[in-house]
Amino acid sequence: MLPDGTIVANQVWKRFKGDDSRKLLRDKIQGFTNPSTRRHRGHRWALRDVDFHIQPGESLSLLGANGSGKSTLLKILNRVMYPYAGDVAVCGRVGALIEVKAGIHPELSGRENIYLAGSFLGLKRDEVARRFDAIVDFAEIEHAIDRQVKFYSSGMQMRIGFAVAAFLEPDVLLVDEVLAVGDASFQQKCLDRMRQVMAQGTTLVLVSHDLAAVEATCKRGIYLKDGVVQMDGPIRDVMGAYRRTIEEKAHGAVASSNDPVHLLSAEASDPNGDIPKTQQPLHLRFRLNADGFQRGRFFFGLTQGTANPIVLLGRRVEIENGGLEITCEIQRLPLPRGRYYLWCGMFDHDEADLLGWQPVLTIDVAGPDLDHGPAAIVRLAPIHVDASWAMS
Ligand SMILES: Nc1ncnc2c1ncn2[C@@H]1O[C@H](COP(=O)(O)OP(=O)(O)O)[C@@H](O)[C@H]1O
Ligand SMILES: [Mg+2]
Repeated sequence: MLPDGTIVANQVWKRFKGDDSRKLLRDKIQGFTNPSTRRHRGHRWALRDVDFHIQPGESLSLLGANGSGKSTLLKILNRVMYPYAGDVAVCGRVGALIEVKAGIHPELSGRENIYLAGSFLGLKRDEVARRFDAIVDFAEIEHAIDRQVKFYSSGMQMRIGFAVAAFLEPDVLLVDEVLAVGDASFQQKCLDRMRQVMAQGTTLVLVSHDLAAVEATCKRGIYLKDGVVQMDGPIRDVMGAYRRTIEEKAHGAVASSNDPVHLLSAEASDPNGDIPKTQQPLHLRFRLNADGFQRGRFFFGLTQGTANPIVLLGRRVEIENGGLEITCEIQRLPLPRGRYYLWCGMFDHDEADLLGWQPVLTIDVAGPDLDHGPAAIVRLAPIHVDASWAMS
């Protein structure tokens, strides 16, 4: 008998019926080249021979591109889906928030849902009652607790789903991408709550695009690629491997352009080679080469995704035969925690493109969140400034 909080996956395989047109398009977009990932007689493997053993109290993140099998694996662990071959053992009470509406019954009120979820977890009515106020308080649904959940906004549904999963003292907590829903302050609350739950010994399996949050929350990572475990180890190592594959993709896209200047690689890190951090030095490195001699101005910018940078820096450069390596150190990175994109380009004296302005790298920054203002006040761009306060 394994102790509560243990999760074991034994040679788990899962396949879905293929949908030809969709899968082919997807293969093209994602640039899959390995023939074994392709449709096989109308089926496509979502998980292939996945094997791991998670001890009680471990915090683990599943990393991987869209379609790599993370959600499928979580659903199998939560037993809302079954493997084609292999088996899983998940010991003890399982709290799961793997789809915004999972486990929430729209016809029942918020109050009824909380008691129902508790009974599914094997809790007695008075055990749920003891945690009821904390759940309602956390989910911020006092005013709507006796209303049917179908009248809740998706944000409210997500909040009650997370609160139920995280407050009914599960031995295992499974969380999929919910941090993408909800506002920044609620996301922070969820992260804080996950850390508290972990401190009580709960095993956590988390999927999130917020790599900074993942790094701060999880000690171990499993990197999935096309349903295969590529790497299983300390979160920093696994995240490093995952990042490198993202960078390779960005570099591939740029090298194939028709511009006379080519970007071979772009890297961004803190001075130790780790994830960039708010108000710490940011090291950037670009490697360029060119068709013949090129002279112009090189620019890079940090953006929230669009072409309009929050930070824009540039220099005159000349590229000769051997290519050029450009490094830049920003002494104190003024960006708060979040996901940013590095854009770069190079232009001649008429401002014609030598290298078109384009995104080349995703940068996740670890650090503090910005203060959450009233909804009516919108920041133009997220900038972190150090400040000290006094009250008297
Ligand atoms: N219900 C389903 N029916 C058919 N294919 C599915 C289904 N769920 C997932 N898939 C496929 O399985 C693969 C893995 O999907 P998923 O687990 O959602 O990945 P991730 O969560 O990492 O983005 C994808 O190719 C996806 O299209
Ligand atoms: Mg998913």
